[in-house]
Amino acid sequence: MMVDADLLIHSAAQVVTCASDVPKRGAAMQDVGLITDGAVVVKDGRILAIGPTESIRERYSAVQMMNASGQVVCPGFVDPHTHVVYAGDRIGEFEQRIRGATYMEIMAAGGGIVSTMRATRASSVDDLVEATLPRLEQMLRLGTTTAEIKTGYGLDLDSELKMLEAIAALDQAQPIDLVPTFMPAHAVPPEFNGRSDAYIDWVVNEMIPAAADWYRNSHFFVDGRPLFCDVFCEKNAFDLAQSRRVLEAGIAYGLPAKIHADEFTSLGGVGLAVELGATSVDHLDATMVEDAAMLAESGVVGIVLPAVNFNLGSHEFADARGLIDAGAALALSTDINPGSAPCPSQPLVMAIASRYQRLLPAETLNAVTINAAFGIGLADRVGSLTPGKQADLLLLNCTDYRQLAYQFGGNLLATVVKNGRII
Ligand code: NIG
Ligand code: FE
Repeated sequence: MMVDADLLIHSAAQVVTCASDVPKRGAAMQDVGLITDGAVVVKDGRILAIGPTESIRERYSAVQMMNASGQVVCPGFVDPHTHVVYAGDRIGEFEQRIRGATYMEIMAAGGGIVSTMRATRASSVDDLVEATLPRLEQMLRLGTTTAEIKTGYGLDLDSELKMLEAIAALDQAQPIDLVPTFMPAHAVPPEFNGRSDAYIDWVVNEMIPAAADWYRNSHFFVDGRPLFCDVFCEKNAFDLAQSRRVLEAGIAYGLPAKIHADEFTSLGGVGLAVELGATSVDHLDATMVEDAAMLAESGVVGIVLPAVNFNLGSHEFADARGLIDAGAALALSTDINPGSAPCPSQPLVMAIASRYQRLLPAETLNAVTINAAFGIGLADRVGSLTPGKQADLLLLNCTDYRQLAYQFGGNLLATVVKNGRII
């Protein structure tokens, strides 16, 4: 008996599933679930079956047939750490850095995140949506079908809620599925200069409760997508005790934790993330060996963001190789933002990670698919080609998935299928 479906993609040189019920670790990172001459069957926006073309075509027929010969089919990319909603740009700072200033010097002098805050505060929800749509379109054209987005350029209650509104509107205005993160503790706003504890009081007592309220009335809640709470645990941002207050308040209000830790200095953020059962700990550039071992023992996903190091002209990168070898669940992200990484491309991140962090192409692919999905708590619906999951998949103009990390600066994407529909 033939089973009827909506879409049957067949004869792909390779189908790579990246399937796993748990975050991939160690040697499993090198397994992409490769099927040669593969096929994928889609029904009602979900994946119905995957396998070799011959056996799939014996059992399934579909309204729409797609011949993917000469192409690779892989899961849509998940970008698990972004600051893609913002106003203005920081091209002036880019030039300052070329002339020799460091990111931290610019931040200490009142530029950086606070300069984007000024532009963001002066914008309406519509302005933010309009500024962000083209960036999301670029991400989609590079293969990203799910992305997390943080607030953190408002830094006061109204402006942070405005950013949440913009994320919700963007989720409904374009194809990429978005997951919101509330991050009022991204920088100390100028009104609170020298009084960061007082700002954290406000964050904990007013802003987080208001965000939790907003979330429960949002479509994200209805759809079962989380609202995360994140904090920048860093010198000149928030110390470990302040970070703990923020994340504990978030958890108390039902917001699972994420943390920016060890980007420039190691303040103990990894230990905090492990203790609190955070979903992810992000950056990990300055992470000590003991903390890497602790992370490896935990269920927390480590997200590294090598486009930041690249963009800041650094020759040092997070020890992603060491993290995988230690047994940590590792994911990769663009961190797209106007300051430290104006980069929409997960394939470019894969290319950087393979060169400067010695990740194999297979490891980079699992890091932007299944492990990235675990890093935003959505692995039950995206991140791999698995029956029952959303049919979010990419057709690439190459016959070997390793081309994704091997090439750089171009775009191998031929077609995006999102929720079973060809875009
Ligand atoms: O992840 N580290 C803090 N936040 C961003 C940078 C944001 C910005 O510079 O605007 C990051 O690198
Ligand atoms: Fe970030």
